[in-house]
Amino acid sequence: MKHYSNLDSLTDFQGTVDLALQLKADPYAFEDLGKRKTIALVFFNSSLRTRLSTEKAARNLGMDVMVLNVSDSWNLEFGDGTVMNMDTAEHIKEATKVIAQYADIIAVRAFAGLKDKDLDYTEKVLNAFIKHAGVPIVNMESALFHPLQGLTDAVTIKELVKKKRPKVVLSWAPHPRALPHAVPNSFVEAMKLTDVDLVITNPEGYDLDPNITKGVTINHNQKEALKDADVVYVKNWSSFEDYGEVKNTDANWMMTKEKLGKAIFMHCLPVRRNVVVVDAVLDSDQSVVITQAGNRTYAAQAVLKLLLDSHE
Ligand code: CP
Repeated sequence: MKHYSNLDSLTDFQGTVDLALQLKADPYAFEDLGKRKTIALVFFNSSLRTRLSTEKAARNLGMDVMVLNVSDSWNLEFGDGTVMNMDTAEHIKEATKVIAQYADIIAVRAFAGLKDKDLDYTEKVLNAFIKHAGVPIVNMESALFHPLQGLTDAVTIKELVKKKRPKVVLSWAPHPRALPHAVPNSFVEAMKLTDVDLVITNPEGYDLDPNITKGVTINHNQKEALKDADVVYVKNWSSFEDYGEVKNTDANWMMTKEKLGKAIFMHCLPVRRNVVVVDAVLDSDQSVVITQAGNRTYAAQAVLKLLLDSHE
């Protein structure tokens, strides 16, 4: 594997899920694999889980870790041929190559701007790192995808749900702010690579990118969609159709105990209590969000192991 930009970077998705579970059982099995190798974690946006779990994953493999919050660095220029006499002090061409002088692998987080769909679909930041850095790049959530989260979600379902071909429902939830599509996009892609019966439920006007949901059942009636669910994955996203807009904050879409039924509750976190999901769900035994967050380490460790194996 050259880079981990998306789930399709993996040649064997289910094999990687199994590798993550194997690493969870024995986290230090490859503790020398990354000895004298360094990963730089570069953040254009905030993070709690991705930052700490990816650092932990790298350390479990014996790697050194450096973190750069881009807000503490120079303002970066992305344009070709720009006369840089305004606010930008350093071009992405130099910045990426310089970071690669210090790091064997670079992991990058750069969210969607949600203002300009075409621009977000260029994956400007992630692709600039892939184009210029010359070392393997890991996507820690880009404009369109969050493949470390998607892999984690598949790992968590395999670990906790023993039923053959469980019914998995991705249920939209209200939120006061416009959130990106990266997590639901990667969740849908992960579930398409897993033997589950996937249903997406969201209000009219909130269908995800049809190229991603192709072949998946979308039901705009949440009650109907949730019937007999084994796994309920709750997430807000802004409108794709009216790109980046918050068109609906209807609290009736919030997840409750009654709607959850006997299913387990998943969410990538962070989550707004009593907006996205009621306390009674999050605080119940049906919520697996902490196990899910814990599994971020082993999903990241599986990805880093595969990258280290391919770049020995
Ligand atoms: N789920 C997730 O990516 O969490 P952070 O934004 O805190 O990294």
